Amino acid sequence: MVGHDETMRTRRTHHGSESISPTAHYTGYVWVHNGLAPGYLATTRGKAYYHAMRPGTALGRMLGGPVLEDVLLARHRLIDRLLSTAIESGRVRGVLELAAGLSPRGLEFAHHYGTEITYVETDLPGMAARKYTALRRAGALGPNHRVESLDVLGGHDQEDVTTVLRHFARGRGLAVVSEGLLNYLSAEEVGGLWSRIHAALRPFGEGLYLSDLHVSTDRRGPAEAFGARLLGMFVRSGVHFHFTDSARARAALRATGFDRVTVHHPSDFPGVLTGGPASADRVRVLAAETR
Ligand SMILES: C[S@@+](CC[C@H](N)C(=O)[O-])C[C@H]1O[C@@H](n2cnc3c(N)ncnc32)[C@H](O)[C@@H]1O
Repeated sequence: MVGHDETMRTRRTHHGSESISPTAHYTGYVWVHNGLAPGYLATTRGKAYYHAMRPGTALGRMLGGPVLEDVLLARHRLIDRLLSTAIESGRVRGVLELAAGLSPRGLEFAHHYGTEITYVETDLPGMAARKYTALRRAGALGPNHRVESLDVLGGHDQEDVTTVLRHFARGRGLAVVSEGLLNYLSAEEVGGLWSRIHAALRPFGEGLYLSDLHVSTDRRGPAEAFGARLLGMFVRSGVHFHFTDSARARAALRATGFDRVTVHHPSDFPGVLTGGPASADRVRVLAAETR
């Protein structure tokens, strides 16, 4: 069961889901700007959003406060780090990324690990088509790297998590990754999604679910409250903080059936931080395992 849902706006439809996609343009540009993604994954929209945010970013840096760009970089690098460790230890041979947006993770991992892994990245139809076209034009897709359309809420005529699993060999470890998704879903939707992910992972030898986690007690300052409100106006589905602290998120995942749940803090991992701990402390990464 997923707990308390502190929602700023509650309207939610599948159409609302598409309104979340613009946030992927911004994060996509953050990855390109920081050298994590190739330039062809940047969009004009992403660049415009990035430059519009720049004064706030500069002010946040000057005041030593949390900076969204640094929070994004910390969570992205920490998810990469945990996923690499799972692959290199031999526990994971397949990766299903949900709501991948314009993230370079699939590209990077498929390139780095080659046929050692199968990487399937997914998003809503419009975003998945954009990503597929960009990667295909760059000649970057291969037999071990696919882009598929997948609505995590199960829209009409959509593939669901179960059908996407046909790409992965049973008995070999599978990781499901989501980054920057949970806060746009209601508590009920997160609960349903976690149950489906848990059920999807069970047939695989070892299962790992990785996701960033933002909790409401971290929205400490007026700048964060304002930032979240702004995002809530922009994203029609609203921005949700389901848990007051990470212990509650951990307990909810355990109640879903995951055998082991670890909450990782970016500041415990040298090399994932840009800027100060003020930003790193604002995000955690959940690692939930099935055996
Ligand atoms: C903030 S972006 C994050 C993108 C990417 N993970 C990253 O970190 O750069 C949120 C993503 O969630 C996707 N999304 C929103 N609702 C979704 C749904 N119901 N099913 C699948 N993807 C969804 C959006 O299209 C968008 O790409």
